[in-house]
Amino acid sequence: MKQIISTVSFITVLFLTSCTSTSPDDLTEELAAGTVVKYDTQVAPIIQSQCLSCHNGPNANGGLRLENFTQVRNSAQSGSLIDRITRDASDPLVMPLGGRLPQATINIILQWQADGFLEN
Ligand code: HEC
Repeated sequence: MKQIISTVSFITVLFLTSCTSTSPDDLTEELAAGTVVKYDTQVAPIIQSQCLSCHNGPNANGGLRLENFTQVRNSAQSGSLIDRITRDASDPLVMPLGGRLPQATINIILQWQADGFLEN
């Protein structure tokens, strides 16, 4: 009986862990109040998973490369990057192309701007 109970609780723990663990693609976590957003830890994973496939290398779409901190900061500071990610989902200019990011992900980038585009 004891063994059954411990097996059941083990399975329950496994189940709960699989539900709560965050994969690298899970970028929709709400920012805790007072969080200071840094490029290396919070922004780079978003850019790498959502933008880099098109904005990379000499043939980057729109002539825009988003491969490193300096390139991403320059685009964000110019206003262009922020403008494109905050457009309506139906706007043909919204980035990433074809679909708006979840609002919580956009908020991370807006907070990065508010914090002064820190690198790390
Ligand atoms: C599927 C390909 C694709 C993805 C993914 C993509 N883009 Fe783009 N992006 C384009 C294309 C094509 C253009 C050029 C056409 C235009 O300006 O809309 C462009 C243009 C831009 C521009 C304007 C060019 C400039 O120099 O200012 C910005 C800013 C931009 N993208 C940012 C982003 C960001 C940030 C992401 C990720 C959140 C992203 N893009 C994801 C294809 C993509």
